[in-house]
Amino acid sequence: MAVLVTGGTGFIGSHTCVELLERGYDVVIIDNLSNSSADVVDRIEKIAGRRPVFYEGDMLDKELLNSIFDRHEIDSVIHFAGLKAVGESVRIPVSYYRTNIGSTLNLIDAMKAHGCTRIVFSSSATVYDASDVSPLKEDALLGTSSPYGRTKLFIEQILRDECVADPSFTAILLRYFNPIGAHPSGLIGENPNGIPNNLLPYIVNVALGILPQLNVYGSDYPTPDGTGVRDYIHVCDLARGHIHALEYAATIKGADAINLGTGNGTSVLEIVHAFEKENSITIPYVLTDRRPGDNATTYADPGKANELLGWHAQYDIHDMVRDSWHFAQVFLKNSR
Ligand code: WQD
Repeated sequence: MAVLVTGGTGFIGSHTCVELLERGYDVVIIDNLSNSSADVVDRIEKIAGRRPVFYEGDMLDKELLNSIFDRHEIDSVIHFAGLKAVGESVRIPVSYYRTNIGSTLNLIDAMKAHGCTRIVFSSSATVYDASDVSPLKEDALLGTSSPYGRTKLFIEQILRDECVADPSFTAILLRYFNPIGAHPSGLIGENPNGIPNNLLPYIVNVALGILPQLNVYGSDYPTPDGTGVRDYIHVCDLARGHIHALEYAATIKGADAINLGTGNGTSVLEIVHAFEKENSITIPYVLTDRRPGDNATTYADPGKANELLGWHAQYDIHDMVRDSWHFAQVFLKNSR
């Protein structure tokens, strides 16, 4: 029996494939390589010592998707594939709805046509209304300000509706907070195309000398040092959470949303200073205006994941900033 990992060459997908292979699961990846590269498959194999089956292709290609289910006994699916840039989604919303929702509808059809009834979905803390007070539990107010976030919210609801219509179907909706870091080997990590939107890859590019300085978006928030506070979680902790979720999905029916976060809030300047101290590097930065759409503080209440999944985040901020920089040195420098 195999696990189909959609978007398995991406940042979180690749780390999850390593965890799956190391635990003896057979892994099949489908990825259109729109935000990753095929050599990630080689690096997954190098770390795990076992190779996933890889199909380059798009989830909107129904024939390809069904042929994968015809060729492999897919027992369950972990669904990462999708567009994920908040700002871009505001500019091209229809592409985000077509890609993210259309892919998921094709996937559900292919799963049902082949008797596969278990899915773990890559959702996001972005589904929470920014006005709600952290720490956020799974029953916090839902509401999102971007088409990207709305695709996550809509897909969560589609999966919930499918579980009502088909009692054999099970969906675990994992709401990630802020994934950063990289596998300790330095072979896989976060390698976004172009100028990064997110904080850590931007800091890494400053450290590499590719970008001149970090713009700190807002220093007048009601937080200890005035800069934005988020729940950063090591990508390896996040990957491990998917294995726990997959195993939990085998014990229940229906749909359930679960936060994957550390429960700790860390500010932008705390991240900068931790990166500098851990890696003996100076990160030049300027305090600039707030970024539209940002809120002051967002972090998780991870109690449900702790209790239901038996999962706890193990890495801390120092591990995250060290591993991010290690990946940059091992991989990014050689590939630019
Ligand atoms: C973190 C903090 C910024 C860049 C986003 C998505 C969310 C999820 C995770 C997918 C904030 C500050 C950032 C910079 C800065 N992605 N910052 N200078 O916005 O919390 O969440 O990524 O699911 O959907 O919204 O992450 O890394 O962009 O920002 O000061 O150059 O860093 O203001 O306080 P965010 P982020």
